[in-house]
Amino acid sequence: MQVLAVASEIYPLVKTGGLADVAGALPLALDRHGVGTTTLVPGYPQVMARVHASGTARSVFAWGEFYGGWAEIIQAQVAGLKLFVLNAPHLFERDGGIYGNGAVDWSDNWRRFAALSRAGADIAGGLLADYRPDLVHVHDWQAALTLAYMRYGAAVATPSVITIHNLAFQGQYDASIFAELGLPDEAMSIHGVEYYGGVGFLKAGLQSAWAITTVSPSYAQEIRLPEFGMGLEGLLNSRSASLIGIVNGIDVDQWDPQTDPHLPVHYSADDLDDRRSNRHHVEERFGLDRDDSLLLCLVSRLTWQKGIDVLVDCLDDIVAMGAKVALLGNGDAGFEGEIHAAAGRHPGRIGVVTGYDEALSHQLTAGADAILVPSRFEPCGLTQLHGLRYGCVPIVTRTGGLADTIIDANEAALTAKVATGFQFEPLAKQPFLNAIRRALNVHREPDAWRQMQTQAMKSDVSWDHSAECYIDVYRSLLRGTHL
Ligand code: ADP
Ligand code: GLC
Repeated sequence: MQVLAVASEIYPLVKTGGLADVAGALPLALDRHGVGTTTLVPGYPQVMARVHASGTARSVFAWGEFYGGWAEIIQAQVAGLKLFVLNAPHLFERDGGIYGNGAVDWSDNWRRFAALSRAGADIAGGLLADYRPDLVHVHDWQAALTLAYMRYGAAVATPSVITIHNLAFQGQYDASIFAELGLPDEAMSIHGVEYYGGVGFLKAGLQSAWAITTVSPSYAQEIRLPEFGMGLEGLLNSRSASLIGIVNGIDVDQWDPQTDPHLPVHYSADDLDDRRSNRHHVEERFGLDRDDSLLLCLVSRLTWQKGIDVLVDCLDDIVAMGAKVALLGNGDAGFEGEIHAAAGRHPGRIGVVTGYDEALSHQLTAGADAILVPSRFEPCGLTQLHGLRYGCVPIVTRTGGLADTIIDANEAALTAKVATGFQFEPLAKQPFLNAIRRALNVHREPDAWRQMQTQAMKSDVSWDHSAECYIDVYRSLLRGTHL
């Protein structure tokens, strides 16, 4: 089976969040089960650099004019990933972020990602002489229009899957762009791309996909409710028979405490004492006191979704309770300022690094006792999975993928020795502090804490099972059965 995936970011070439991790890891996992994936991605400068450096780049198609300029499709293989790259300098070759400059989105994002989607649909429809996929799998709003182009074009009979990684990002634009999308007039209807009078990219994808997946079973249920559906709950309910939640895995080779090249010292569940050196490294790097108090960490985008406002509100109390905190994140400038201010109030107890630092994220997870994930909503979440794998006990809100991947340390779970973390709800100061209090209590008993760490490290966070779930979805679509 050959799958064409379409995604706006892919690890290790370009990443702003978990979407890239999934787009980069799922093809490798599918490959182990005999399913081949080629992923179409935009030719951002960092992608083009890797593609050229790979020595495998081959131009396989060119347009004289494609959404406002010259463009080509390059086929290449990078880091074990088979790629099609849409090289369109007028759309993707620019300084700044891949979606915008600072907090401001590129004003032509609709054109950039319509072009990506069009290229995906054209490939699905037979644009390339020697490649035609059996199935198309697109990720998030940036790739969603692929499915509308397929439905109203040559690839109408090709099975398709859309994965929702985050319903908060929908790609909603003014109706005036419709004329430039190159879709037939009939597409501008409630059954097509029309969304609240404008054009909705994600909406169009959800309407056109043969199957809809999202990245955890709980989130698949939650998004059918007004609190989480972000305006799309009606559509999602109408398509509930085709909606399924498949939890993400992580790349357990990149995240392996026994071999991770980023770690000062390697360790396993059998020699957790060796984590101590990693802890010292974190204490030093974040300017924290060297003592045995509970060391909490955070690795996150600093946004409202991630509950950072509530965390900021709790920091003084966390210190008063005797814990210390190492925070790594970037995003909202207001939150960055607030956590720096908290670190200023509590030298030795709160340490902050703002920015994006892959190596440090590994070191933190290997050295801290517990990782905080106080998300307001979380389609899946990956940092709690990193925490499980590294014996860094997750403290999470009971929502979405966090609810599905962590076993709360309630009395019964502790007695049965199956607990892997602490869950709390709702997201608010007192419940959050109570969860940290529970963690402090367990941490005071070294054997009980070690038992939780060991149990966490036994959790299956690999892609194996989830890749099989995706393959089940693909197979049923190829048999012609919509889910
Ligand atoms: P989201 O995609 O919503 O940001 P996820 O938990 O799914 O959340 O994925 C976030 C990914 O980005 C993880 O791989 C996490 O380790 C990484 N990450 C987030 N912030 C940082 C940071 N400041 N430095 C390094 N890695 C980060
Ligand atoms: C999104 C979600 C996150 C999920 C990631 C990968 O960024 O916010 O919960 O883990 O996509 O699916």
